[in-house]
Parts: sequence; structure tokens; C-alpha cells
Amino acid sequence: MSCIIKTELEIKKMRISGQLAAEVLEMIEKYVQPDMNTEDLNIICHDYIVNKKKAIPACLGYHGFPKSICVSINDVVCHGIPNKQQIFKEGDIVNIDIAVIKNQYYGDVSKMFFVGQVNTLSKRLCQVAQESLYLSLKLIRPGIPLYKIGKIIEKYVNKNNFSVVQEYCGHGIGRNFHEEPHVLHYYNKENSIILEKGMIFTIEPMINSGARQVRCMPDGWTIKTKDHSLSAQYEHTVLVTDYGCDILTWQKDEKISPKLINKK
Ligand code: MF3
Ligand code: CO
Repeated sequence: MSCIIKTELEIKKMRISGQLAAEVLEMIEKYVQPDMNTEDLNIICHDYIVNKKKAIPACLGYHGFPKSICVSINDVVCHGIPNKQQIFKEGDIVNIDIAVIKNQYYGDVSKMFFVGQVNTLSKRLCQVAQESLYLSLKLIRPGIPLYKIGKIIEKYVNKNNFSVVQEYCGHGIGRNFHEEPHVLHYYNKENSIILEKGMIFTIEPMINSGARQVRCMPDGWTIKTKDHSLSAQYEHTVLVTDYGCDILTWQKDEKISPKLINKK
């Protein structure tokens, strides 16, 4: 097992893995179009990760997951399985979740894409999901308790009349896909470890336009909202630094800086 505090060498490798995962999202954007199917998207990402980046798609075979990426459309909360029969249509909102292994270290990232024009509610849901992640990133620095992350996400999401999914959480990441600590996206004071320089973990809130409850489909993977309301998720892998955090999976179109100084 690896330690919760990363060494300089590990941090160097995690920067490479995080950047690589982010580049897959930047590469795939132009393919998210009406009439595209999610299996073709999976193949493009798989080939890019394996052949161009000489890396490993971490989702493929993870607990038996059959594809290299997760693609989650509209009321799918997470873990959507790419499929030839599943075709994007105008107005869809789509989460693409990319996890890679490079030099034995993992990078994990996801974001929302719009298929053509989407309605106001869909746009607002995605915006609130991204802003909730950004708000949590802006308070990360050594000395703060972990529960503050979930607290600020939940407060912001609820204020906007959306709900936070509780079944899935962010996670430490390094030589393993999922490590300590568990990063909840809702308030729980038990979640009381104190952040330290050198910790690396993901934050990946899933938020629903209706109720927070979810249901697993018969395929054993696809998670949908129980009430069929829309769901949105953004995910970053982050490093705790001296005075803030570095967003290891930062992409060019972000509305936040890749290096945050978060003073009191
Ligand atoms: N990327 C997801 C995470 O953040 C995990 C996907 S599970 C898989 O943990 F099986 F699809 F890989
Ligand atoms: Co993750």
C-alpha cells in the first residue's frame, strides 16, 4: 500500500498521469456530436491512450468493467457503458470519465459535454456541478479538515435546488485507482482528517436535478437517477500544496487557474 502523503518523485509522476487524462478529454470534445455512438467514442479514446500516449485505460477490466471509458448520458449518474446502439442526440448532456495509468500512476478526470444546443435546466445543472467543484478547490490547503469539501459542495448544490448523490465519493489516488481518504461530497463531521501538503485525491461531485436517490441497472454498472431526473458530474485529481492546491487534471477551457493559492 502506498502512503497518503506523496513523495516528490510520486508527485512528478502524478502530474504526468493527470495531464494525460486531461488531454484525452480535450481530444474527444470534437467527437461529441449528434449521431455519434458511445462505442466509437470509447474506441477513439482507447486508441489515443494506448497508441499515442503509451498508457493504460484504467477503467478497462476494473472489477470487470468492459470498456475503456465511462459515458453517462442525461439521467445516467455514472458508469455508463459505451455501446454501438447508444447514439447521441441534440440536447443530451454527457459525462465522459477518463482514468489512465502511466508509469504505474493513475490520473482520473471527468467533465460534462453538450450535444448541440441544450435546454436551460441542463446548462444550469452542469454549471452548478462545475461551480460546486471549483468552490471546494478554492478552500483546499494544509490544515483544513476534509469534511469542509463536502460541506461547501452540499450547501451550494442545495441552495440551487439540486441534490448531491451520496453513494459515490472522491478518493485518494496514486499507484492505486482508489486509496484513502474517502472524499464525501456532502457534510459528515466524522470525515475529519486534516489536509496535509503532498496529499493527492479526486473530488467528483454527482448532482441531480431531482432527488438524490439512484438505481443500478440490470447490467450491473449503469447508475441512473431513481426519478429519471438529469445528473451532472465534474471530476478533478488535485494535489495539496504549501498554500493551496494544484489541479493535476486541469484543461485549457477551465474557468479556474491550475494552481490555487488559498489563503485564509
Ligand atoms: N472513474 C471512476 C472513479 O472516479 C471509476 C470508474 S469505475 C469503472 O472512480 F469501473 F468504470 F472503471
Ligand atoms: Co474517481
